[in-house]
Amino acid sequence: MKEQLKNLQETATKIICSASSIDELEALRIQYLGKKGELTAILKQMGKLSAEERPQMGQLANQLRSSLEKLLEEKNEELSKALLEMKLQEESVDVTIPGKKVAIGHKHPMYNVLDQIKDIFIGMGFDILDDQEIEFSDYNFTKLNTPDGHPAREWSDTFYLTEDSSILLRTQTSNMQIRAMEEKELPIRILAPGRVYRKDEVDATHSPMFHQIEGMVIDKGVTMGDLKATLNLVVQQIYGEGTVTRFRPHHFPFTEPSCEMDIQCHKCGGKGCPTCKGEGWIEILGAGMVHPEVLKNGGIDPDVYSGWAFGMGLERLALGEYKINDLRLIFENDVRFLEQF
Ligand code: DAH
Repeated sequence: MKEQLKNLQETATKIICSASSIDELEALRIQYLGKKGELTAILKQMGKLSAEERPQMGQLANQLRSSLEKLLEEKNEELSKALLEMKLQEESVDVTIPGKKVAIGHKHPMYNVLDQIKDIFIGMGFDILDDQEIEFSDYNFTKLNTPDGHPAREWSDTFYLTEDSSILLRTQTSNMQIRAMEEKELPIRILAPGRVYRKDEVDATHSPMFHQIEGMVIDKGVTMGDLKATLNLVVQQIYGEGTVTRFRPHHFPFTEPSCEMDIQCHKCGGKGCPTCKGEGWIEILGAGMVHPEVLKNGGIDPDVYSGWAFGMGLERLALGEYKINDLRLIFENDVRFLEQF
């Protein structure tokens, strides 16, 4: 029995000393000193001993127990310390490491141009109107003097949302003319920017979705002179003082008379170059005096009131301003492109 206790002392000491975790230590404590442990197993043989041997063995066993307990405690302390040390090291912060750069986005270049135009019109007392992209054909066409059967209403050009072609994705921001007449008090001065949709294939100058800016003024005694003066003023602010403009007669169903406005090419000064396709002039918008029928359709008496309106493409303006030659770049949203502005 003495031999057994000695063996236990030796092996237990060795194994406890080489334990590498607190869990392992606890398992060892149970294995050696637990109720069903190895020491208990040895002590069960006490009964076989003589009366003199028994107290000696008891003393030996107690010494063994307390020495193993002490060893377990020391080892526990050592492992706890090491664990804490490791944690501290893992969680330490190196304040000299450079921080991660937070990438903050910025406004899309086309919206920079839009905001600039909004500012100009707000400065002249115009209200900005909310969007209406899904629209009744009535507002996109009929009330704008573009009746059933008009070529602009072809299914091949327009995204209709219903079989009876009564609802569509608007093809122009001019729908807002009627909406403004219905919703606003007279006199009306509105700017209505937003998306429009046409069945066009995507290429460098076309997209099935693009942006227009509609503007309209209705008041008593409004004339073509007001239209020209206001748009000239706007163009000076967008393209710079001294920009030369011209108005050409044109046809739109919802204006009478109608015109298109050109600016003299800012690249070549009117001589003709690739930017203006050799023309010397660049068309920037369509405009005209609001047709009396359209005023009537909006519930306004054309004998008392008159108005002018214009519509311009926003992408083309942005392409020109930033010297971009492909419309697709505006919509692809490749940050390598957008970051340049
Ligand atoms: N809606 C026309 C288009 O998409 C542009 C336009 C022309 C708007 C004349 C107007 C206008 O308000 O008066 O081509």
